[in-house]
Amino acid sequence: MNMIRFDSVDSTNTTALDYPVGSVVVASQQVKGRGRFDRSWSSSLGGLWFSLVLGSARRPFEYTFIASLAVLDHVGGCVKWPNDVYVKGKKICGILSEGVSVGSKLDKIIVGVGVNVNNTLPDDLKEIGISLSSVAGKEVDVEELLSKILKSFEKYLSMPFEEVLDLYKTKCCVMGKVVDVKSVDSSLSGKVVDINSNGNLMVEASDGVEKVIEGDVELGILNNSVI
Ligand code: BTN
Repeated sequence: MNMIRFDSVDSTNTTALDYPVGSVVVASQQVKGRGRFDRSWSSSLGGLWFSLVLGSARRPFEYTFIASLAVLDHVGGCVKWPNDVYVKGKKICGILSEGVSVGSKLDKIIVGVGVNVNNTLPDDLKEIGISLSSVAGKEVDVEELLSKILKSFEKYLSMPFEEVLDLYKTKCCVMGKVVDVKSVDSSLSGKVVDINSNGNLMVEASDGVEKVIEGDVELGILNNSVI
């Protein structure tokens, strides 16, 4: 892949729009890093912030699952469906896959990955976020981490999606758990029984198994465990 580096950008996902398939846009910091549902993503110096420009051969969620597995290979922990990597009960990485359409056709997909590495988290995120350096007890080489994640990404990219999905399920910390799911206009509680081939979370609720296409998942009050 062709690596393009910046000291500072608004968001690598936005900058990546200007580059062809096969590019990796990396920035030392982002001033308008963003996450799902247009939430802001804190991205100061010392973290790993990058976006891959990929073709539309796979659906955006497939890339999210592939990127999750690639990150998990090198930071440990588990994935909270669909796109959050957790270590010691706190979020260490977020992934944002965005489709770019030309007319009505999906043209390319930008997969943004943010990993808290040596960056200092702002006070309001210290309770819910964690950095790799604090887990390791020492500074971590960001460049080396990037190249390892990219290698793993290619490994999972070469696998059939069914295999990726099976692996993702084994690493997904909400599988089999009672969860509360909050979507834009609805909420649901129940036990996660599967993730289907479209990447949807299958939740056994009081009225039967429901398909969750998007939303924020939290462990329900019936669980004693933390992620
Ligand atoms: C989330 O947790 O909702 C996803 C966060 C994704 C953050 C990464 S950092 C690199 C890329 N650029 C962005 O603006 N967002 C993604």
